[in-house]
Amino acid sequence: SKKLGLVGWRGMVGSVLMQRMQEENDFALVESHFFTTSNVGGNGPKIGGKDTPALKDASSIEALAAMDIIITCQGGDYTNDVFPKLRAAGWNGYWIDAASALRMKDDAVIILDPVNMPVIKDALAKGVKNYVGGNCTVSLMLLAVGALYKADLVEWMSAMTYQAASGAGAQNMRELLSQMGVLERAVASELANPSSAILDIDRKVAESQRSGDFPVANFGVPLAGSLIPYIDKQLENGQSKEEWKGQAETNKILGREADPIPVDGLCVRIGAMRCHSQALTIKLKRDVPLAEIEELIRNDNEWVRLVPNTREDSMKSLTPVAVTGTLNVAVGRLRKLNMGPQYLGAFTVGDQLLWGAAEPLRRMLRILLQ
Ligand code: HSE
Repeated sequence: SKKLGLVGWRGMVGSVLMQRMQEENDFALVESHFFTTSNVGGNGPKIGGKDTPALKDASSIEALAAMDIIITCQGGDYTNDVFPKLRAAGWNGYWIDAASALRMKDDAVIILDPVNMPVIKDALAKGVKNYVGGNCTVSLMLLAVGALYKADLVEWMSAMTYQAASGAGAQNMRELLSQMGVLERAVASELANPSSAILDIDRKVAESQRSGDFPVANFGVPLAGSLIPYIDKQLENGQSKEEWKGQAETNKILGREADPIPVDGLCVRIGAMRCHSQALTIKLKRDVPLAEIEELIRNDNEWVRLVPNTREDSMKSLTPVAVTGTLNVAVGRLRKLNMGPQYLGAFTVGDQLLWGAAEPLRRMLRILLQ
């Protein structure tokens, strides 16, 4: 069986990947080798109750080159450092990567097989060896409304995002919760007293958020009880890097870089744990009846969950709390907007660590093993 090397399997995305691969019994199909940047020779993880070989050196080109397939969740710095050396050494195996470093390269495909299986199959036939997971926001948007792109109904799309702490990293998730705890403790006695004045509570909360000892080492500013209207680096054109990815990656995933569909919007960090939400405005190429649109979305893939556009269903099923930890991608609030019958509004929620990061990687492995 093929030799699979795993790098970065202990981090947050790597751990979600490991869990999914065990649930789906992926390890039974390969000979697994685990790599480490810090514990060479240490014990590998137990898989299905069985020991794996001792941990190999993730910086050893020789050890990596012995693999047929490598999956890395180690991050972009690792990819930038090791990948060019590995290829320069003549390694011709398949490189499956969660990081964005190689995403926009011509010799790499962004993998999201429920949306772009034809693009992936075409690349495999042409001998492409580099397969990279997409930006979480883009992948979750396409899982949700990819049907409309496939049917060539989208003239343009605006995605206004509500992104979870997990997208910024494990430390940021912890910091969000620490911030919440600090705020609660700042007003615990007032909360215990039902007749205390809400404006006093509010003032104390703002004082705590603005105080020098509020925990902001990772986010830089308070997120709990607030939001952060900027994600990733600042670009020259006024977009954030996260916003730039919307159009660039969507069109690359769809294989239409030559004739791109405009995609743009503002990306905002909110105090959710690991589900990214997005409010979409879609300009349709023609006036398609809502029932037809619902049908297309509902039948597109087995993970999409169409939520009826009612208050009760939206509150119950179209939230990060409802979706978190599942592979379901919820789509709701579907309705035609006041701007006209070609303007569609929608809201979508998906787990940033599952379909947004880990799941496309293990599915690419499966595709290679077919
Ligand atoms: N850039 C995303 C975020 C996560 O910060 O939420 C990675 O795709």
